[in-house]
Amino acid sequence: MESLINSGKIIGINKATPATTAIGDYGTEELYDMYQQFSCQCDETGMYDQFLLVERAEGLNVWFKGDSKPYLDLVMGFSALNLGHQHPRVKKAVEEAIRTIDHIHSFNSESKILLSRILAEKAPGNNDKKVYFPVGGAMAVDTAIKLARAFSGKPRIASFTNAFHGYSYGAMMVTDDPIINKWQYGPYPGEAVRLPYADCYRCQHVICNYQCLQIAEQYLTENNDIAALIIEPIQGHAGFIIPPREFIVGLKKLCQVNNILFIDDEIQVGMGRSGRMFSIEHFDVEPDIMLLSKSLAGGYYPLSAVIARSEIWDSISPAGSGIGSTFANNPLGTYIALQVQKILEEEHYIENAERIGAYFTAELKRLERYKNIDNVTGLGLIQSLEVVEDKKTREPAPAIAKRIQSEGLKQRILLYVAGIEKNRIKFALPLWVDLGDMDWIIWKIRDVIGRVCLLN
Ligand SMILES: Cc1ncc(COP(=O)(O)O)c(C=O)c1O
Repeated sequence: MESLINSGKIIGINKATPATTAIGDYGTEELYDMYQQFSCQCDETGMYDQFLLVERAEGLNVWFKGDSKPYLDLVMGFSALNLGHQHPRVKKAVEEAIRTIDHIHSFNSESKILLSRILAEKAPGNNDKKVYFPVGGAMAVDTAIKLARAFSGKPRIASFTNAFHGYSYGAMMVTDDPIINKWQYGPYPGEAVRLPYADCYRCQHVICNYQCLQIAEQYLTENNDIAALIIEPIQGHAGFIIPPREFIVGLKKLCQVNNILFIDDEIQVGMGRSGRMFSIEHFDVEPDIMLLSKSLAGGYYPLSAVIARSEIWDSISPAGSGIGSTFANNPLGTYIALQVQKILEEEHYIENAERIGAYFTAELKRLERYKNIDNVTGLGLIQSLEVVEDKKTREPAPAIAKRIQSEGLKQRILLYVAGIEKNRIKFALPLWVDLGDMDWIIWKIRDVIGRVCLLN
């Protein structure tokens, strides 16, 4: 159905004919036409240059309508599927949960309380923690901002260049993506200060000397209205950028000295993806507030978690807290999430992610022998590479990255092009992949890149 997107062909839906709800009543061309007429076009469903309708998925594979052959999925629901598609044990948990519960408001469930304890105890550091479960990542970010402001009595939040924290108003306040036309939606609930992230490959300074950290130090020391800084320990949307340990450790120290809360956004890179349960563990730093979502409930329910020091949660009066949502603490979501924790442990998936990830990085590094491929970075199963015009100038090559993505689609492999310059290809794999899967995945990636790029 490749031609549909560019053909401009619209069949024209006859609205006099009543719509049916039966799946299978319409062909792809009619559905494309209906998509044009009735679906919002400003979400990300137009990012691939083929009109594909998802039909089913399992493990590493996705099948699209009208096509019996699968596509290899290296995007994994934008990192929401750390256990892959339809993991049998997660599926069983979902079926168990659905048989017994849908939703209830204003009551606790056993799974919510057990999950709270598990996450509070797994979170790094010795301080006692408490947990709350909103819906989706952006609401977790909003909740963290509310908590930080209320606890500290200070208004401003510091965030980082190229950070992504979601699309709610609070989250967009701290998100930094120049491609997003965010001012059309203004005004915002304040504007965050933007500190430089340590993206070493694209460092603007001639001599490092941790100037990014020095800028943060100067700002955070001279301004006493900062409630918190929010940071992704490994930047996800920007293309899995791994900063040096000194950067994260230095920021934590600055927070302690200047009485600023450290909010760790693990929404994309947590849940075992980096080879540790939380990616902040690579830096031995204890956050004051930590955020999880995406894979928390196996991709079946948009549960998120705000794990904060008990002292912070206890500073908010339960009466009129303004913290809540109809579907927060949803027992279906917390039941699945509890089983996901059990599966991660019993199957030793996080250890596997660390072990196989090292192999994946080494194999991806070999792709740097292609003219346009550089800066392969990775930790565990968080891996990415940059597509550049020239390795000396490091000029980003978004058009070539797009060609690789399009070629990927032709070769039945789903690739995600990320980053502010839209030149980073990032890979998110299920934590259970073994060496056999890995060799197949690397072969497919190499094949696609080899069709677009020349050797050095
Ligand atoms: C680091 C990070 N924070 C927050 C969010 C927002 O999560 P959601 O899309 O569930 O609102 C995302 C989404 O990609 C993310 O990557």
